Amino acid sequence: DTGQVTLDTGFVNTASCVSSITYIDGDAGILRYRGYPIEQLAERSTFLESSYLLIHGELPTPAQLEDFTSRIQHHTLLHEEMRRFFDGFPRDAHPMAVLSSAVSALSTFYQDSLNPFDQEQVEISTIRLMAKVPTIASYAYKKAIGQPMLYPDNSLGYVENFLRMTFGVPATPYEIDPVAVKVLDMLLLLHADHEQNCSTSTVRLVGSSQANLFASVSAGVNALFGPLHGGANQAVLEMLQVIREDGGDVAKFVSRVKDKKDTATRLMGFGHRVYKNYDPRAALVKKAAQEVLGRMAKPDPLLDLAMQLEEIALSDEYFVSRKLYPNVDFYTGLIYKAMGFPTTMFTVLFALGRLPGWIAQWREMINDPETKIGRPRQVYIGYGARDYAPIAGR
Ligand code: SDX
Repeated sequence: DTGQVTLDTGFVNTASCVSSITYIDGDAGILRYRGYPIEQLAERSTFLESSYLLIHGELPTPAQLEDFTSRIQHHTLLHEEMRRFFDGFPRDAHPMAVLSSAVSALSTFYQDSLNPFDQEQVEISTIRLMAKVPTIASYAYKKAIGQPMLYPDNSLGYVENFLRMTFGVPATPYEIDPVAVKVLDMLLLLHADHEQNCSTSTVRLVGSSQANLFASVSAGVNALFGPLHGGANQAVLEMLQVIREDGGDVAKFVSRVKDKKDTATRLMGFGHRVYKNYDPRAALVKKAAQEVLGRMAKPDPLLDLAMQLEEIALSDEYFVSRKLYPNVDFYTGLIYKAMGFPTTMFTVLFALGRLPGWIAQWREMINDPETKIGRPRQVYIGYGARDYAPIAGR
């Protein structure tokens, strides 16, 4: 239980931290937030309630949830000067790049509440992040499509407000789709935390230097951007579109992946650093995908391709022997596409979901008296000592 494991390279890799937030058993496919199984939370909780659980450690009482929700609602507005911030980006700026810049910029508007050791300042920064990131995310999308940015409507729920700011226009009232709200709320909940993944470890590492919460979360957004991490949900859709444009021959694509001639050709949305079994979130997302896409007048052919890919991979020795199963990213993109999001917004939706987890993990780290500044060591394999050679002799 010292968190020490000896890797096959012979050197000991110590656990990166001690945490009581999220538990994963990769072999059994178990995921729990503060002890509660993800399946129960997905079915019976909401994103904000589970966010409170991750951040504060317990499920909220009705009064605590009401206070958390209303404090978030009353901080959804961005400073007017921040709205002009978006004018500086090119129209084709990737929303993840806009999101990480804007989150970092929040620290310039709230310089009075950046002290990581002042609990009140940490609390208001937590509320401001939970409240303003959906507004920033929707503005990044509006900027990309040249539509006006809508002010938040505090009479709406968290997900409703985000969908309205993203897809609403001033000219006509926005009609809330309760199924889209319910499914997106669950998807955000499924992404809310995942112990020490790449982006969360980044948030903890940056925060370990006592950098403020906004700066640490902005670093986490950048880590999540990569296609091997949160960017995979966008890469899955692009992969399915390539297969479709190439005639829809799934077996041919799978052979290309197995040939590994092109190392970049991976089965995106498959495999995981920890899960060597079916990612429990993927099973819940697949069910939601079938529900949402099943309602569509015109079925999405990419869903059929995805299910064919899954079926082939789960029975193919190459994938089975390497314990490669669908992960949380394999089906999410199909749902986001059905909701009207462009592929460039998929990873932003992942960030929206992961936000409470980043905040909870940063708070746990900063409050842990054992926390020291992150300073990983290395195995040096370079030259031994040698003398400087003057340029004339090189
Ligand atoms: C997320 O950490 C988290 O918790 C992340 C996350 C979260 O909630 O925060 O769960 C979210 O990031 C999910 C992962 C999303 N990424 C993808 O879907 C991209 C595709 N997947 C892979 O690139 C890969 O599976 C990783 C990066 C996710 C995990 O890589 P591993 O465990 O380090 O596996 P590996 O690179 O050591 O590969 C082991 C073998 C290799 O083959 P061999 O060298 O043994 O012959 O499996 C192969 C790899 O080539 N392999 C794949 C593959 N993933 C691994 N082959 C084809 N397709 C894949 N997707």
